[in-house]
Amino acid sequence: MNHNPRSRTWFRLAVIYFALGVMLGVTMGATGDHSLFAVHAHINLLGWVSMALFGLISTMHPSITQGHIATAQFWTYNVGVPVMLGALTLRMKGFPSVEPLIAVASILIGFSVLLFVWQVFSRIGVTFEHLNRAQSESHLS
Ligand code: HEM
Ligand code: HEM
Repeated sequence: MNHNPRSRTWFRLAVIYFALGVMLGVTMGATGDHSLFAVHAHINLLGWVSMALFGLISTMHPSITQGHIATAQFWTYNVGVPVMLGALTLRMKGFPSVEPLIAVASILIGFSVLLFVWQVFSRIGVTFEHLNRAQSESHLS
């Protein structure tokens, strides 16, 4: 098992979203107020489920956590998700003026997902040795 710091961070973030999502679910169940059900669903799915998957895939294939694109993927996701969820909460509590913010944050999340797709296609199956060789060759030339 690798101890990739990025996958550990994804796991830590995932469990925080899991706790928040389940607490909101329990609160919705207890109060009967389901108005934030879409926030609850997306805290659990964009947060807990997707981040745990990012962590698991990063554990299995650490090469996808290397490089600037991986860093951009991490930060766009981790800015986009809380902004989207916060703005969605405000939207559902009667503040329609935050809709542009939801749109921008959603696009940021979509962009992050495309970066992740790129990492999976371009790096899984490419070994560290191969990447290191390619990098040192590009430094030499
Ligand atoms: C103790 C844990 C949980 C409780 C008490 C809970 C409670 C609820 C409640 C009360 C709703 C609203 C249902 C409605 O108004 O139609 C809901 C919806 C939902 N929950 Fe949870 N939930 C929990 C955990 C989870 C987890 C772990 C996930 C995902 C991994 C999840 C995913 C969803 C989804 C996707 C919906 C929306 C379903 C729909 O479209 O109607 N929930 N939950
Ligand atoms: C940028 C990312 C995303 C955006 C902007 C988004 C947006 C939306 C919207 C607008 C709805 C309809 C809500 C309603 O009618 O009340 C919805 C529903 C849903 N989405 Fe997403 N979604 C995103 C990502 C995801 C992901 C990654 C998953 C699963 C892994 C997911 C699972 C669901 C589910 C289960 C529902 C039905 C429950 C609900 O209405 O909240 N979504 N989403």
